Amino acid sequence: MNKHIITADQFTRMEVEKLFGLADYIRSTNISNILQGLTLATLFYEPSTRTRLSFESAMHKLGGNVISVENAQFSSVKKGESLADTIKTISLLSDCIVLRHPDVNSAQIAVKNSNVPIINGGSGYGEHPTQALLDLYTVQKEIGKIDNLHYVLVGDIKYGRTVHSLVKLLSLFKNIKITEVEYSRESLHQALRNKPDVIYLTRVQLERMTEDEKKVSYHFGVEELRMSEAIIMHPLPKNNEIAREVDESDKAVYFKQVENGLWLRAALLYTLLR
Ligand code: NCD
Repeated sequence: MNKHIITADQFTRMEVEKLFGLADYIRSTNISNILQGLTLATLFYEPSTRTRLSFESAMHKLGGNVISVENAQFSSVKKGESLADTIKTISLLSDCIVLRHPDVNSAQIAVKNSNVPIINGGSGYGEHPTQALLDLYTVQKEIGKIDNLHYVLVGDIKYGRTVHSLVKLLSLFKNIKITEVEYSRESLHQALRNKPDVIYLTRVQLERMTEDEKKVSYHFGVEELRMSEAIIMHPLPKNNEIAREVDESDKAVYFKQVENGLWLRAALLYTLLR
């Protein structure tokens, strides 16, 4: 596997399947000191709960250390420091860097300036490859396969970086049907009639939108839930796009995605750092 995790494009199917196997293995064996003495740095210029904490928790589970810059936009960047200089500095102080940044090219800039592996934890509206990996790891666990399934992607297809990485990763699999539904309830109903296996919802990315685009809204409720047998996924955080009742359904697997993400990220760290 590559030294860095930048885009979902970089993976082969074999690498993805190996990561899933390794995630299962780490989860079942409780190995705890394999990354002892190594330090992960998390550098986040945009808000995050899951991605940052799940990488940090994964590093702790494998016996490593974590240093963290949350709200990096208020760090030396406030004093005019470039991303390149920040990365050069942090790569001298750590063994791996997880970066989240509003610029779509941020991960590539980081790679050019780092001596240690870079993991893209979200690059603007561009990509979020580790989320796509944990999404498909969840599909594999819930349905038992990724091939031959119909995926309905709902919500902010334009700015939703998790969807961009997910579609790229899905291209590695066989006989995949993808239906993209951008906000319209009618087209959602249409898509649900075509027997999807996975419904992947996303939050409206208000912070990336123009004033005109911000007028959109979208809601998935019990009516839609009843129309389909599909599992319901969401990268989280969710806002009003999912009714509370949906959370109670067995079909809603978004919190399982969070749990699976911990082990998948542990597998990634192990692969990059061992
Ligand atoms: C997503 C992100 O940051 O792109 N969150 C996540 O990492 N699970 C989705 C979002 O912010 O809507």
